[in-house]
Amino acid sequence: MVEIRALTEADRPWVTEQVTQRWGSPVMVTRGQVFDAPMLPGLIACADTSPCGLLLYHIEDGACEIVLLDSWRTGQGIGTALLHAARDLARQRGCTRLFLVTTNDNQPAQAFYQKRDFHQAAVYPNAMEMARILKPEIPEIGLNGIPITDEIELEMGL
Ligand SMILES: CC(C)(COP(=O)(O)OP(=O)(O)OC[C@H]1O[C@@H](n2cnc3c(N)ncnc32)[C@H](O)[C@@H]1OP(=O)(O)O)[C@@H](O)C(=O)NCCC(=O)NCCS
Repeated sequence: MVEIRALTEADRPWVTEQVTQRWGSPVMVTRGQVFDAPMLPGLIACADTSPCGLLLYHIEDGACEIVLLDSWRTGQGIGTALLHAARDLARQRGCTRLFLVTTNDNQPAQAFYQKRDFHQAAVYPNAMEMARILKPEIPEIGLNGIPITDEIELEMGL
């Protein structure tokens, strides 16, 4: 049974630790925009009272961006539960678009989102060169040995 709740101020140190551990630093970069991840609003998933997933988002101009989605008990419905909670929240806030930016190597994430009503909105070739200037911790090589070069934007209408 997964419980989803909004992040609170008290969660911030934990978010900093998790994001740094999983993504190299507390900074997230998408489309040239730098986010201080622990300052973003978000949702936390807990199973048996232990945290098992995290989603951070940013709402601007009627669009909700999923800046980070992480599940550390994969294949148990946690990513889907967080995604659906974010979709519902974005609708409640009057957003007309839910989107995210991932990288070309992350084919599992692209499949995950496309199976859940997202479609590819844009490809930004070589965008990771700029992203690495803003966040040098981004590795050159990603999943399955694929060079991380491009940003891929996926979206769904709300
Ligand atoms: C992408 C990611 C968030 C998915 O999270 P997840 O918790 O594994 O997601 P779910 O469990 O909801 O769904 C994953 C698969 O498990 C299956 N699944 C869900 N509940 C299940 C259960 N109880 N038992 C077995 N399988 C289950 C789903 O059907 C799904 O398969 P499908 O995509 O073929 O339909 C996760 O893999 C992750 O954190 N990846 C690393 C970070 C990342 O890449 N984030 C996205 C970057 S933008």
